[in-house]
Amino acid sequence: MKTILVTGGAGFIGANFVRMVLDEHPAVRVINLDKLTYAGNLENLKGYTDNPNHVFVKGDICDGPLVSKVIDEHQIDGIVNFAAESHVDRSLVEPGVFIETNVQGTLVLLKIALEKKIQRFLQVSTDEVYGSLGPEGLFTETTPLSPNSPYSASKASADMLVAAFGHSWGLPYNITRCSNNYGPYQFPEKMLPLMIHNALNDKELPVYGDGLYVRDWLYVYDHCTAIWKVLTEADPGTVYNIGGNNEKTNLEVVGLILERLGKPESLITHVKDRPGHDRRYAIDSSKIMNGLGWKPTVTFKEGVHRTIDWYLSNTDWLNHVVSGQYQQYYESMYTNR
Ligand code: NAD
Ligand code: TYD
Repeated sequence: MKTILVTGGAGFIGANFVRMVLDEHPAVRVINLDKLTYAGNLENLKGYTDNPNHVFVKGDICDGPLVSKVIDEHQIDGIVNFAAESHVDRSLVEPGVFIETNVQGTLVLLKIALEKKIQRFLQVSTDEVYGSLGPEGLFTETTPLSPNSPYSASKASADMLVAAFGHSWGLPYNITRCSNNYGPYQFPEKMLPLMIHNALNDKELPVYGDGLYVRDWLYVYDHCTAIWKVLTEADPGTVYNIGGNNEKTNLEVVGLILERLGKPESLITHVKDRPGHDRRYAIDSSKIMNGLGWKPTVTFKEGVHRTIDWYLSNTDWLNHVVSGQYQQYYESMYTNR
């Protein structure tokens, strides 16, 4: 694969993926199409915007003529679709934009990918499409889709459209379903960076409900290497789960952050729960581990330490993203909760 179109490459995972590809696969060109919503930030690509193998295009995946033009102009072989509205809490307040970007936008990309005979379309999906687990068991690739939030419903819809394009017209696709990511450049609406930012400022840490919700955390770099393997080595028409085999309750995660920063447990504040909050996610990654030889390389403790160190040494980045609109978001979500 010589030239790939990465959508949403100025967001958290997309930017980490673009950086990894440019660093580790110098024969590959990356065309990065991103609308630069509140979550997209060119500072996530600092040091890479002048890279001769990287072209950034500001634009919307819902804009068919633009997507067609970019594909023709750059002779795209493969598409990796990260672009999405990605935060569950926002989807519970304003679901419409999730349908627009995550479903409609994916449909636009699929139609053009088919028309232009793109070699591979990789849809970056989430374990949240499977719904919630009880105390036992793991999601496998054959677990029925049963999404519970507008976010996960929009992602499941997109997954089904991708598979339908493969089934009906032979579009060579892959779908990856990953567990919760953490690491550098994550927007502080998500749990880990939000708690790190609050702890650094001695602000309360708003833990939803009893804090015993479980997520299977994966360091973002390991997610990126998994996507690369699927893109370049997997058979078309296949789905891969990606996870860290690393289940933690939210209270455990918050405890680790406080310990590392030397802050008191008294900062933890239990607040009103998220409506319809999924209790537990956990991934069976044996298909990608056994089939493609992928494995995570960063332990949770190491990853959390690296992440905290990153936020500590990138205070300009953090201060910039929490200025302006973020303050309004925080107040509307967390005041009187
Ligand atoms: P993010 O919110 O940090 O970034 C999303 C990016 O998409 C932003 O740069 C934004 O500007 C861009 N974007 C949004 N709408 C767009 C549009 N209409 N056209 C073009 N660009 C648009 O999200 P993230 O956490 O990096 O997630 C990336 C992908 O990975 C998403 O598809 C998400 O569903 C999936 N995913 C995320 C996680 C996680 O833990 N964060 C886990 C599994 C899967
Ligand atoms: P989040 O990072 O929003 O990811 P997701 O909901 O997609 O799994 O949340 C991770 C977990 O942390 C989830 O159980 C909700 C919880 N959470 C809090 O307790 N407080 C918060 O302020 C946030 C943002 C999340």
